[in-house]
Amino acid sequence: MRPAEPRHGIVLEQLRKCYGPVEAVAGIDLVVTPGETVALLGPNGAGKSTTIDLLLGLATPDGGAVTVFGQPPARAVAEGRVAGMLQTGQLIDHLTVRELVALAASLYPHPRPLGEVLEVTGAAAFADQRTTKLSGGQAQRVRFALALVADAALLVLDEPTVALDVEARRDFWAAMRRVARGGTTVLFATHYLEEADAYADRIVLMAHGRILADGPATDIKARVGGRRIRATLDAVPLDELRRLPGVSGAERHGDAVALTCADSDLALRALLAAYPAARDLEVRGAGLEEAFFELVAEDDRTASGAPKATAHR
Ligand SMILES: Nc1ncnc2c1ncn2[C@@H]1O[C@H](COP(=O)(O)OP(=O)(O)OP(=O)(O)O)[C@@H](O)[C@H]1O
Ligand SMILES: [Mg+2]
Repeated sequence: MRPAEPRHGIVLEQLRKCYGPVEAVAGIDLVVTPGETVALLGPNGAGKSTTIDLLLGLATPDGGAVTVFGQPPARAVAEGRVAGMLQTGQLIDHLTVRELVALAASLYPHPRPLGEVLEVTGAAAFADQRTTKLSGGQAQRVRFALALVADAALLVLDEPTVALDVEARRDFWAAMRRVARGGTTVLFATHYLEEADAYADRIVLMAHGRILADGPATDIKARVGGRRIRATLDAVPLDELRRLPGVSGAERHGDAVALTCADSDLALRALLAAYPAARDLEVRGAGLEEAFFELVAEDDRTASGAPKATAHR
């Protein structure tokens, strides 16, 4: 029988990990509640995989603390409460996919049924194939199966959809939705912002080993604020557009102009009053991608004054 779940799924307190002069994780605090689906975003070298390694007990912190369901990660993993899917990792040779997943299942106290796992991950289609004969996307599905078979309360996934084609990605997220709905806590790292936007309850944005933003996608988008107006409008100097009330910036893309707005209602009225010929108007909020670039760029500017946080491979 599973012990009662504590209130917190993951607790990171001032967590640090250094590799030589590089502070891969530079003192982060994070609490994840059981049942949440959290996306870890950030540019290459941000510290996402290092954080995941610390959560899975594959690396030991140089400072601070990490607990998973109130336990040290290695213990939580050994008890089958946490399962992971890493960015890389060889599959054991000389076994078929079915044998490998069955072997993994035998290591856990309450595994998910083998057939269900093969079906859900799409690995049933090549279950009798040897692990050495798999395509990149098939191997990725097997890694997913190995994580899922544990029936763990927490799934930690490092770029789980990286080698998958469009259909496999859709299947993957459909499977994850089902797992999350069953109450499993999920933390995944990704570079696909649309995946984070669509599937996570909450986004944690990292850069230079630190957390830059933490909250629902809508809050993160709102942090960079400002709506954008696009319009087809030729032969108007950008400086004139920048002086319109409510407008904070203007760029030209061929015949179209893109205005960044502090107040889009005001800006739109002013634009149409001054330039009645403006057409093909679009008003939209900042996307996650814009928020990502803006927050990371802001942090890069700060970090360039603090060389110890700059990561070099
Ligand atoms: N085993 C290691 N030895 C030395 N340096 C390491 C090691 N693992 C990571 N680093 C360094 O720590 C920093 C963070 O790396 P990490 O792999 O956590 O980044 P990431 O956010 O997962 O990046 P990516 O998006 O490229 O996967 C990088 O500067 C990296 O070079
Ligand atoms: Mg990584």
